[in-house]
Amino acid sequence: TPRVFSGIQPSGNLHLGNYLGAIKRFVDMQGSDFETVYCMVDMHAITVWQNPQDLMKSTRELCAGFIASGIDPEQSILINQSQVPEHAQLAWIFNCIARMGWMQRMTQFKDKAGKNSQNASLGLFAYPALMAADILVYHATHVPVGDDQKQHLELTRDIAAKFNHDYGVDFFPMTEPVIKGAATRVMSLRDGSKKMSKSDASDASRINMTDDADTLAKKIRKAKTDPDALPSEAKGLEERPEARNLVNIYAALNDQSVDAVLSEVGGKQFGEFKPMLAELAVAKLAPIAEEMARLMNEQTEIDRILSRGAERAREITAPILRKTYDIVGMVPPT
Ligand code: TYM
Repeated sequence: TPRVFSGIQPSGNLHLGNYLGAIKRFVDMQGSDFETVYCMVDMHAITVWQNPQDLMKSTRELCAGFIASGIDPEQSILINQSQVPEHAQLAWIFNCIARMGWMQRMTQFKDKAGKNSQNASLGLFAYPALMAADILVYHATHVPVGDDQKQHLELTRDIAAKFNHDYGVDFFPMTEPVIKGAATRVMSLRDGSKKMSKSDASDASRINMTDDADTLAKKIRKAKTDPDALPSEAKGLEERPEARNLVNIYAALNDQSVDAVLSEVGGKQFGEFKPMLAELAVAKLAPIAEEMARLMNEQTEIDRILSRGAERAREITAPILRKTYDIVGMVPPT
């Protein structure tokens, strides 16, 4: 069976972009066609400073978010990256495969490192090699992500190809990115040219998965829009980033295409559409927030799920790592 792997950083403020671009897709792929592995990438999170207590809390909260959204820890393997040491071990091998120049081209590195990149951590620079290891240590074939991860997945294929070529093997698969649906790039509610992000200073720019119904409705009511009525076809949204974003969110929440949504709401003003969107968002998201809050009181249960996940994961990753070491020429223990 084909295998799915994806990860999310436990760096706080799990938001609607993470849900629609990633978690909701993870739930869709769960089931008989795929074996699914989903990961809280705490080792990626610390490539920028994380307060230790906050990191622990965010990791458990992310796990609660996965489960509350419909990831079944029996059907899927749910793990915390640092509990499956083969990720970091394969990442070292990939650090020796990937080239400095490849890493320098990564837009996420350039954005996160900012102007003074000499002051960025070495981990932030090597980030994509660890991400490639996350995926390839499972021989994963499909990786559902939002649009912003596309470049990292291309690099994952480059690393797999160079490893296979340098050692003359056909060992690591060429992973397929799965970037699908109406909300692969959810934008800020305050600025249609910026993506919704965990780190935006304005809380009004994003819908957090932990927001209660009132906060959620208020953020949607205040979302930036333009004064025109909604068009009746998707191409009428091309030059209207804020309007397009709200319609995309509606479509993704309701599992509809953008055209299907517009055939219903085309011609309406935002004064009418926003309350519809708020109602839909509350109906879909408030139960998830409530379930997350409930699970956060069951910390022992969350921790048990993660250690059980790590045990199951290592049955897959340990043999793949060992085989990699054999290919590289590392003497096995007797
Ligand atoms: P992260 O933690 O930034 O985001 C997690 C997932 O959410 C998606 N996403 C969005 N989708 C739509 N609109 C948005 N505004 C938005 N913001 C975030 C991301 O595309 C991602 O799918 N490098 C990864 C984590 C990672 C990973 C992996 C992913 C580590 N190892 C292996 C896949 C496979 C990251 O920083 O995601």
